[in-house]
Amino acid sequence: MNKMQKIGVMTSGGDSPGMNAAIRSVVRTCAYHELECIGIYRGFQGLIEGDFKSMDARSVNNIVNKGGTILKSARSKEFMTRKGRDTAFAKAKEQGLDALVVIGGDGSFTGAMIFSDENDFPVMGIPGTIDNDIYGTSSTLGYDTALNTVVDAIDKIRDTASSHNRLFFVEVMGRDVGNIALNAGVGAGAEEILIPEENLGKDRLLESLKRSRASGKSSSIVVVAEGDKTGDNVFELKDYVEANLPEYEVRVSVLGHMQRGGSPSCWDRVLASRMGVKAVESLMEGKSNYMVGIQDTKIVLCPLDQAVKGKTDIDKELIRVSDIMTT
Ligand code: F6P
Repeated sequence: MNKMQKIGVMTSGGDSPGMNAAIRSVVRTCAYHELECIGIYRGFQGLIEGDFKSMDARSVNNIVNKGGTILKSARSKEFMTRKGRDTAFAKAKEQGLDALVVIGGDGSFTGAMIFSDENDFPVMGIPGTIDNDIYGTSSTLGYDTALNTVVDAIDKIRDTASSHNRLFFVEVMGRDVGNIALNAGVGAGAEEILIPEENLGKDRLLESLKRSRASGKSSSIVVVAEGDKTGDNVFELKDYVEANLPEYEVRVSVLGHMQRGGSPSCWDRVLASRMGVKAVESLMEGKSNYMVGIQDTKIVLCPLDQAVKGKTDIDKELIRVSDIMTT
């Protein structure tokens, strides 16, 4: 039934903790089913350049616990052109690849889908991004780890904030979505959380800070997603609060790319292991153009075009919980 013999695996776009565990799973599932597995370095750019390495079960020893990606990652401009994709297809054929597993985010899936459609080439996606913004899965690889990293950082900031009775603005990743800000904010007990999905307005922020001070709180943490809707960055927010509430001493902490690194959590390792098995076995069953996801603890498949086009929603109930928690 299955003519699949050689599968290529790559990581593409922004890296996330758990990508190595997913590579390991794809490689070992191939080995288990006696398929050849080819690692492709630097995502689609490596496919264009033929940057390949044959991988067996032993080439992925001791990486389940490692952050980053041993295959490196890239955002390839060349792959966005037809010429680049034609070269990539020629390299894939030359190498004898029968299918591709792409571990990445929606940009990578869009590229994979176009490549698959143009060349009738089987692809399977595994969602790897700390942003958790992909339709068709309740959790992406790296999200859980990033949340734990952010909560740990905010806990430490809280120590120094309360020692000095200060207010901290903590900027977290999330260019288009506030999942990290909202969940880590609730987890770390933030007084306010500013996210791209909702414009709470700066007046409300001032009101909330006034209330917080009046109720006897000695320190305050405001978590701000990069893409927050107020339109102000954390430094502008600091200036605004200092100008309007001089009783507050304000500091800013931008967590930045440390959120993308570190050893993956147990959740991300297990999820990656399950997704890798599903990706390879689905290709063996003749399926193509799907993303592997998780829904209600079950590993599922979602058509790639839906994963790319579908919109994820912020958890409105969690916003309400956050409001109650700041009482
Ligand atoms: O991985 C997604 C993400 O972390 C976004 O939240 C962030 O805006 C972006 O990557 C930054 O990525 P880079 O610095 O690699 O362009």
